[in-house]
Amino acid sequence: MKRNKDLFEDFLKNAFADLGPRIGIVLGSGLNNLVDSMRIRKKLSYADIPDFPRSTVAGHEGAFVCGDIGNVPVLAAKGRFHYYEGYSLDDILTIMRSFRALNIPDVIITNAAGLMDPLHQPGDILLIRDCIDMTHLTRALKAGTAKTTDKERQIAMFAAKEAGIRLGEGVYIWTTGPSYETPAEIRYFRALGGDLVGMSTMPEIMWARENGMRVYPFSCATNWASGISEQPLTHEEVSETAQRVKHDLTRYVLTLCQVIGD
Ligand code: HPA
Repeated sequence: MKRNKDLFEDFLKNAFADLGPRIGIVLGSGLNNLVDSMRIRKKLSYADIPDFPRSTVAGHEGAFVCGDIGNVPVLAAKGRFHYYEGYSLDDILTIMRSFRALNIPDVIITNAAGLMDPLHQPGDILLIRDCIDMTHLTRALKAGTAKTTDKERQIAMFAAKEAGIRLGEGVYIWTTGPSYETPAEIRYFRALGGDLVGMSTMPEIMWARENGMRVYPFSCATNWASGISEQPLTHEEVSETAQRVKHDLTRYVLTLCQVIGD
C-alpha cells in the first residue's frame, strides 16, 4: 500500500503523545495477554487509523493499547503485519514508524519461532542476538543493525535474573513463509549458523535501530524446527507452546519494562 507521508504518524501523535509512552512493545502470536497486566488508558484499533494497514488474520485483533506497567507508560501493538499476508516492507514497518513518531526510545519485540539449536528446548525464551535474512527484503536497511548491542544484551540478561527466568540467546533466520520449512531447508539454515527460524521481526529490528531506538527482540521457541524431531510440525503445537510460555514471557516483559523505565 502506498501511503501519504506522515498521515498516520500525525494521527498517532494526536492520539497518544500526551500519554508519553516510554516503551513500544510488539506482541507476537499467542502473547497478547500482556495487556491484561497493563493499566489501560487508551486503545485504538488499526482500522481507525488513517493510511494504516488493516489486519487480515481472522481472530487477530489489530490495535494499539496504551497504558502503564507499574509506573512506566508503554504502547503495545497487538497484532503485526507479516510479509506472507501480502504486506509490503513499508506496511510491515508502520508499527516501528508509529513508535518513532512518538519519540519512543526503547522497543521490545516478541515472536514465536521454530528452534534449531539442540541446546535449548521448545518453551524456552531466547534473546535474538543477530539475524540472517533469507528473504532478501532488508537490502534497503542498514547492515549491522540486526545485531543486538552489548548494552541491550546486558539489560535483557539483568531483567531475566530479576524475573527469575532462564534467557537463552541465538541467531534468528527470517523467512517469508507462509509455509513452514522443509527438513532440508532447516539443515541448510542450521549450517548457516541459525538457531531460530521465523516469519517476522528482522526488518522491524533493523529499522528501529537505524532510527536510533534501542531494541530488545525475543523469540518464544514454540517448536522444534522441521525435521529436528520425529513429530510432524503443526500450527497447534506452535499455539499450545505459546500458551504454555506466555506467563513466563509476560512476567519477563513486565520486569524488563521496569528495568528499562528505572
Ligand atoms: N518456522 C517458521 N516460523 C515459525 C516456526 C517455524 O518452525 N514456528 C513458529 N514460527
